[in-house]
Amino acid sequence: MQIEIFDSGYKLACRAADIFEETVKANPSAVLGLATGASPVNTYKELIARYNAGRLSFAGVTTFNLDEYCDLPQNDKNSYYTFMKENLFDSVDVKPENIHIENGNAADFDAEAAAYDRAIEAAGGIDLQLLGIGTNGHIGFNEPADAFTDGTFRIRLTESTIKANSRYFTDSKMPEYALTMGIASIMHAKKILLIATGGAKAEAIFNTVKGPISPRCPASVLRLHRDAVLLLDTAAAALL
Ligand code: F6R
Repeated sequence: MQIEIFDSGYKLACRAADIFEETVKANPSAVLGLATGASPVNTYKELIARYNAGRLSFAGVTTFNLDEYCDLPQNDKNSYYTFMKENLFDSVDVKPENIHIENGNAADFDAEAAAYDRAIEAAGGIDLQLLGIGTNGHIGFNEPADAFTDGTFRIRLTESTIKANSRYFTDSKMPEYALTMGIASIMHAKKILLIATGGAKAEAIFNTVKGPISPRCPASVLRLHRDAVLLLDTAAAALL
């Protein structure tokens, strides 16, 4: 696992954008695994700036998002579909038909999860997977558990995740379930890029890097990946 520490959020976002740029320039039809939440926002801003400067095109890429809430209308302001449109997709040239986000309103969640895994496989697998990390060490919505998870599945969110994310649900109730890629889906990506900023992530980063490799801290599994890069700010790296 490669760890890089930055003294500014801007420098960190530029480094993350460099890794995206390298991936897409090396393979214009790259398959990108994308994340939502606060962590990737500045990286997406930098990718949009590079697209606007004519440095980068997403016209050939295929994207798969990590996760989506269940039982939340797709156009809700808090859906990850809306997040991705607002923070990246509406501002770059990615083709709508190449965008994949789990359908959190599917009639049959198991069938939806299996179809999502098949679509990733049919696209040739993920070349670069972007991740944030929860304060409890979750990646995607793989919460601390007794065993590492496999492919895409529906999960009941933990109280700590509901508490951490309910700040966004000011006028509606936060969903209790989500569809998420599993740990095996994430680990199959050829390259993984995890971003963590702020002191609230310091303990999760310590457990990821120095704790036991255990499903109790799902991100610790990244130590077993052959090309995982952690981009941290000084606050998130404070306990290392
Ligand atoms: C989002 C996701 C989550 C977040 C994590 C951190 O698609 O899968 O694992 O990356 O909850 O969220 P932020 O970045 O908001 O602190």
